[in-house]
Amino acid sequence: MPILVNGTEVEPPADPRVSLLDFLRERLELHGTKLGCNQGACGACTVLVDGSERILSCLALAVQYEGRAITTIEGLSGNGELHPLQAAFIECDGFQCGYCTPGQICSAIGMAAEIRRGVPSHVTADLAADSIALDHDELRERMSGNLCRCGAYNGIVEAIRETFASEGAAK
Ligand code: FES
Ligand code: FES
Repeated sequence: MPILVNGTEVEPPADPRVSLLDFLRERLELHGTKLGCNQGACGACTVLVDGSERILSCLALAVQYEGRAITTIEGLSGNGELHPLQAAFIECDGFQCGYCTPGQICSAIGMAAEIRRGVPSHVTADLAADSIALDHDELRERMSGNLCRCGAYNGIVEAIRETFASEGAAK
């Protein structure tokens, strides 16, 4: 069964051992998704499944996603328009070298969807609340799996906060 990558059906690799990250980068030449640690520790390889679930593609096998939709950073913009979060990263100086940026952006989009679904985090104080506000602590905790070696965190946080500050979800 094909995998839908950024809206295009592609055949999965014949070798079931190929990671989703290697499949995207080496077979499909979608180099926006970055290889960092290759062991689940840095978040550089984050992509979205079915539009809103964030996963680490270095820890996933491509064949696991047959019949599912994968969105990489290349798939977020459309009709010549950047995704609002991409634009906010530029506006807020949310990157220096840019190596972590695709993962940060995909992760933040997935994170905002988790907030909308009312998924609590380690720092959510009131598990019975009707909604979870994307405040200072929630944002930092929920993005803590995405590392930035350049230390551009202030701009990253500002871009995410500006884009998703109104996020909250009825539970
Ligand atoms: S490359 Fe996947 S988490 Fe670091
Ligand atoms: S901008 Fe360089 S690693 Fe984050």
